[in-house]
Amino acid sequence: MDELPSLLLVGGGRMGAAMLSGWREQGLSRAVVVDPSAAAQALASPRVKVVASATALPEDFAPQAVILAVKPQMAAEALPVYARFAGQAVFISIMAGKTVDTVGRLLGAQPALVRAMPNTPAAVRKGFTAAYADAHVSPAQQALAARLLAAIGEVAWVTDEAALDPVTAISGGGPAYVFLLTELMEQTALAQGLAPDLARRMARQTVIGSAALLAASHEDAADLRVAVTSPGGTTERALAVLRADDAWPENFTRAIQAATERSRELSG
Ligand SMILES: NC(=O)c1ccc[n+]([C@@H]2O[C@H](COP(=O)([O-])OP(=O)(O)OC[C@H]3O[C@@H](n4cnc5c(N)ncnc54)[C@H](OP(=O)(O)O)[C@@H]3O)[C@@H](O)[C@H]2O)c1
Repeated sequence: MDELPSLLLVGGGRMGAAMLSGWREQGLSRAVVVDPSAAAQALASPRVKVVASATALPEDFAPQAVILAVKPQMAAEALPVYARFAGQAVFISIMAGKTVDTVGRLLGAQPALVRAMPNTPAAVRKGFTAAYADAHVSPAQQALAARLLAAIGEVAWVTDEAALDPVTAISGGGPAYVFLLTELMEQTALAQGLAPDLARRMARQTVIGSAALLAASHEDAADLRVAVTSPGGTTERALAVLRADDAWPENFTRAIQAATERSRELSG
């Protein structure tokens, strides 16, 4: 695979560091990370320079992609200095809730801009990222963005930026829903009198194993569910409770609607 072109990463925290580690595997030519934290210095290597602020960027540096991975609340302060790269680079913003228009306004320039919404399994390269490319992004820039985002997992493109609100609600928050399910399985096991160590191991491995089975199978989740559900058996009895009209389906729909609405409010 060809080496990646020169990259500028603004914010080398959890998500930025996860992406950088994936890019290293793909073959970096040159990258600069801007991050004021002492911890970010650990990201430095022969091909990766880490600087505390944009004022210390090498003068000859002309990145082909600028990845914005600071917290959304830092954007107004952090972004304007990078407007000078707007003519040459594709910008990729992973900042939650910042629309393409908002990022352009904060930069004070309208670059070729990709807005992406990853999720936390990115830390183990099992993330899911939905991305939207604005009209200024060329096919070659979109291909570069796809390659950079694929470093942390699967990537899907949406053609309507508004789709990122339900995406935020479902895949962005999704790991939290799965972790809540894991907590509930553990708590219920304890309530049924099982030993704490057994309850914890059983809940964790059931979720881990189910995810691995889903990953290894070509069947839909619904088919895998049916395969565990013997007629007249124990799982069927539990699912009858969980799938009742006022139980999981209705609650889950309301939860996702609430999160989608909140994402719209934050983007406004
Ligand atoms: N984590 C997720 O699940 C997730 C999911 C989707 C989207 N995102 C988005 O990803 C972005 C990064 O999230 P994260 O979890 O990686 O946050 P994080 O761990 O806090 O990383 C942000 C980094 O940016 C640094 N920073 C602060 N001000 C800066 C500046 N002016 N210039 C350059 N760097 C600066 C921070 O340093 P200090 O610690 O010293 O402030 C920190 O190292 C956010 O916008 C978030 O919305 C995250």
